[in-house]
Amino acid sequence: MRAAELTRRLLMFSRQQVLEPKVLDLNEVLSGMDMMLQRLVGEDVRLVTIFGASLGQVCADSGSIEQIVMNLVINARDAMPTGGALTIETSDVILDEDYARSHLGAMPGRYVLLSVTDTGTGMDKATEARIFEPFFTTKALEQGTGLGLSTVFGIVQQSAGSIRVASELGVGTTFTIYLPRVDAPPLTSAGPPGEVAPLRGWETILLVEDEDQVRHAACGILVRHGYTVIEARNAGEALLLCERHPGVIHLLLTDVVMPQMSGPELAKRLAPERPGMKVLCMSGYPGDTAVRHGLIANEFVYLQKPITVQTLTKRVREVLDAPPPLSREAAGRTH
Ligand SMILES: Nc1ncnc2c1ncn2[C@@H]1O[C@H](COP(=O)(O)OP(=O)(O)OP(=O)(O)O)[C@@H](O)[C@H]1O
Ligand SMILES: [Mg+2]
Repeated sequence: MRAAELTRRLLMFSRQQVLEPKVLDLNEVLSGMDMMLQRLVGEDVRLVTIFGASLGQVCADSGSIEQIVMNLVINARDAMPTGGALTIETSDVILDEDYARSHLGAMPGRYVLLSVTDTGTGMDKATEARIFEPFFTTKALEQGTGLGLSTVFGIVQQSAGSIRVASELGVGTTFTIYLPRVDAPPLTSAGPPGEVAPLRGWETILLVEDEDQVRHAACGILVRHGYTVIEARNAGEALLLCERHPGVIHLLLTDVVMPQMSGPELAKRLAPERPGMKVLCMSGYPGDTAVRHGLIANEFVYLQKPITVQTLTKRVREVLDAPPPLSREAAGRTH
């Protein structure tokens, strides 16, 4: 997970991150992070949250919002080595023409404000001028890479928002983020019960993955959710097991990059014998990269590692419940 997180940050920093923007309530995202933030800041820092009442919604990727908050909170904590107060605040704001004129890059409009304030060391003007630069850090080698705020900046820009900093040496720092408000109907987590995706199943899945730990983890998750799993360490083993298995195999869940034969190649080999079998590829590469480099064709549904209980069970269910794949011939005609 840590390796994935670092890679994610590097990709996001280079703007290749696949963001999944949704209409969401910042207060809800922040509430979900409360325990984690508390642990992150430690005992010497008092964490205060001031949630704006009836807050407007924003359209953003919730994982990215969490990442913004994490980065700002870690920076705030680092600026208060002997303790202090950390305040996270949300509110609705309207930025008027005057504001837009006096702040470079700001557009007038209705926004949701998210601010993180600390009572730490503050920064001098020379530091403040450079904080959003990639790899700019005043921290020791092991303690900072200088990617935190450039990542925050990148996400805010991609979300059509803006960010401000106000800092005073010896007093503290406030980072303020403005995200455009959207006036969509609230999409609360307590939707109608019918909308909750069923995550369990009974079908038979052929799981092909050469990394033992990943295979064991995926198998455990699937079995706990009711599936029957046939495990194979590579394509050769999968072909053999497939031949010996008399019953239906509903889904081939396979790693993309494997020695000898790749996941997509394996899928193509099995297709004639198992025409109804669905295919779900999993890989450590972001989907578009894998497609662009010819690792997987667009026709395969794809799951990005690291897999979690949530993503795996959801994706497996989606693929199994999808209408049967087009025949090769029919698919060929659509291109
Ligand atoms: N709340 C803050 N108070 C004082 N200085 C800050 C604060 N936030 C950021 N800075 C300054 O900005 C610099 C850059 O921050 P940034 O988050 O980009 O990188 P970092 O924290 O040094 O490393 P990383 O986030 O990659 O671990 C910091 O090294 C620090 O000097
Ligand atoms: Mg940082």
